[in-house]
Amino acid sequence: MSLPLQSIDVLRQEHDAILSVLDQLEQAVALAQDGVLVPADIFTDIQEFMSVFVTQCHNHKENEAVFGRLDDDLAGQVLANRLKQEHQEALAVDRDFAAAVAAYVPGDIASARRLAGATERYADDLRQHITTETDELFPLMARDLSGSDRDMIAEFDRVETDEIGEGVHERLHAMIDGLPERIAACRRPAGSGVAAATGKQSSAALLHER
Ligand SMILES: [Fe+2]
Ligand SMILES: [Fe+2]
Repeated sequence: MSLPLQSIDVLRQEHDAILSVLDQLEQAVALAQDGVLVPADIFTDIQEFMSVFVTQCHNHKENEAVFGRLDDDLAGQVLANRLKQEHQEALAVDRDFAAAVAAYVPGDIASARRLAGATERYADDLRQHITTETDELFPLMARDLSGSDRDMIAEFDRVETDEIGEGVHERLHAMIDGLPERIAACRRPAGSGVAAATGKQSSAALLHER
């Protein structure tokens, strides 16, 4: 029987964080499409999370610490190449999403619809990629890489400090924790004292988190 790997736990927890942000993003986009004045900073914060946490950090951990260790058999090589290719293809989808976020204006339904289209493509691709890693990559890691677990964890730590910087990972986790309340505040009637929905609302909460 395979031993539990700490490296798999780390990647799985990051997948859970990503999936939770995708759920929040879809809720916020649906509200914006319904004409709710969802503040733009909710989407720019999520876009930063996608760019820094997913692309620069999580994908680099897999590229640099995991995929190169799966070369011992053909199945491992094929899977690693496929996942690496998907990381590469995700860059263009990420750019489209970032452009749609930058163009979003609260109350402008056309910009909300563009954002909804970019979100759908981004979320579909990412969920599918995570499912492949859960179903195919993790069992292969558990079978073949238990002897490299400590080395992989050390490389994960190096990616976090060298490539995104000290404390950024923690700041983004704090941002995730605050998202449900910020999105719930958009649903409250104007004048309730919580959601001013001006597009700049909630920056105080953000500053507090940062
Ligand atoms: Fe991946
Ligand atoms: Fe992943």
